[in-house]
Amino acid sequence: MKKKLISVLLTGVMAASLLAGCAATTATAPAPAAEEVKEEAEEVVEDVEEAAEEVAETAEAADGELISVGFAQVGHESDWRTASTKSCQDVFSEANGYDLSFVDCDNDEAAQKEAVRSFIEQGVDYIIIDPIIATGWDTVLTECEDAGIPVIVIDRTIDDSDKYVSWVGSDFLTEGKAAGEWLKAYAAAQGITEINALIIQGTIGSSAQIGRTDGFQSVADAEGWTVLDKQTGDFTEAGGQEVMESYCKSYEGKFNVVVCENDNEAFGAMTAMDNAGVTYGPGNDVILISYDACTAGLEKVKEGKITADFECNPLAAPTVEGVIQTLQSGGTPEKEILVPDNWYALADQIVDFSVDGNAQTMIEVTDEVIEAQY
Ligand code: AHR
Repeated sequence: MKKKLISVLLTGVMAASLLAGCAATTATAPAPAAEEVKEEAEEVVEDVEEAAEEVAETAEAADGELISVGFAQVGHESDWRTASTKSCQDVFSEANGYDLSFVDCDNDEAAQKEAVRSFIEQGVDYIIIDPIIATGWDTVLTECEDAGIPVIVIDRTIDDSDKYVSWVGSDFLTEGKAAGEWLKAYAAAQGITEINALIIQGTIGSSAQIGRTDGFQSVADAEGWTVLDKQTGDFTEAGGQEVMESYCKSYEGKFNVVVCENDNEAFGAMTAMDNAGVTYGPGNDVILISYDACTAGLEKVKEGKITADFECNPLAAPTVEGVIQTLQSGGTPEKEILVPDNWYALADQIVDFSVDGNAQTMIEVTDEVIEAQY
């Protein structure tokens, strides 16, 4: 904005200078008229120069007030991600005093590191990273540290470096355990004695995948359930459909639970099961479990397709902004800040269960609940 204004004004200065020059060179005869034009043109040059200076000063001052933030986002693979991006762009807006550089890294780990390095080059005030995968971060975080730029990690965790100020996100391990503990209680209530589960995992190596897979598996191990297979659908609808198509062929008639590690994978899995003639949802062949609980996911719960949906709240940006404000005022933010999640089902699928000894509450999916979701 600042650069644009200055360049417009400089163009004005150049135009006026040319005019003045012209007036000077064409000032042959009659002399008094040419002299007048020349003087007027010189005055215009002076005025424009003054205005340019003023604008530059105002812009400098305004820029000084804006906090520059670089955000290296994972990509655009899911409804959840869309909600997360929108939340960040809303929070880190110019109206709120921020100058946001946003990079959609399209699930490419190398591109994400490059984005961080470009933020260092730009000399932003803060860098926010939602790490595609949990490892491989220490070198680039050291570069941020050397440049004196504080890093805030949002959503997924970084597991092999602590060179960041704060992490703000959901507890993925608890999400996975909650899905497992709910299934245990629900199966008992339904008189289901055997669980044969298929899992469609998220992006392998992401902390969202690791936590959800490990959390569910810990309950499966404790209960002696059979996990027939685990394959990644990369958190996408197309990935979920592809994996489920192959599962439907390989495990025909052998499974009664499908766990999708996000809603978009569940949508793809539904298409594959529809095509294969497998019924799912309460009272059908397959119990379908999902994570995220975005609007479209809860709609599928309401329609009786997803049996239970375990939220991962994408609206962490306001909390990240709180971290930045704490740093701005010289404070020390907490290293780990949890964003709370809820668990959702229809009334008949709500059962009592605990995670690590803590009683859990489920929310009944109604039109009002869906309306209020992201
Ligand atoms: O990291 C959060 C996960 O990433 C969400 O569950 C998923 O939808 C997204 O792509």
